Amino acid sequence: MFADERPGGSKREIYDELLRQARGLFEGERDAIANAANLSALLFGGLAEINWVGFYFLNGSELVLGPFQGKPACVRIALGKGVCGTAMEQRQTLVVPDVGKFPGHIPCDADSRSEIVVPLIAGGRAVGVLDIDSPIPARFDEDDRVGIESLAVLWLRASELNGLDLHLAAAAR
Ligand code: SME
Repeated sequence: MFADERPGGSKREIYDELLRQARGLFEGERDAIANAANLSALLFGGLAEINWVGFYFLNGSELVLGPFQGKPACVRIALGKGVCGTAMEQRQTLVVPDVGKFPGHIPCDADSRSEIVVPLIAGGRAVGVLDIDSPIPARFDEDDRVGIESLAVLWLRASELNGLDLHLAAAAR
């Protein structure tokens, strides 16, 4: 359905192309989990030098692992813990050039050297985070932040978040 070669050009051109492809994937589809799964796969194949990309959804006071690509990861992260829990609590994107220097970083994949975590906020409601890891130190810059935030907003707008509530309620423990 989609060309599997990685888009080339400048970082901005790469994100423009990924946004175009994500719009195509989300077209006529409101299922938040399905759209998160497809966005994870699109980014895993489309971005160079990354080893993990995926979603964590906020359920009460913890983040719970959602659709992702990469090695198996920690399932539950308390709000305020790790890069993910901190980005969610602060409701701001965290770009971490050296995960070894981030206090409380949670190592899921030993290959990860740098990380970006974008909080997913819809109408004031904290939904979760989109997390991307790289084996290269300082892999993510301002262009990545802008590009990944735009993709996160696209996912939030495309997806029916009430469906996510039902999924989280059923999975709560
Ligand atoms: N490193 C993250 C945990 C999630 S994994 O990178 C997939 C953190 O510190 O929150």
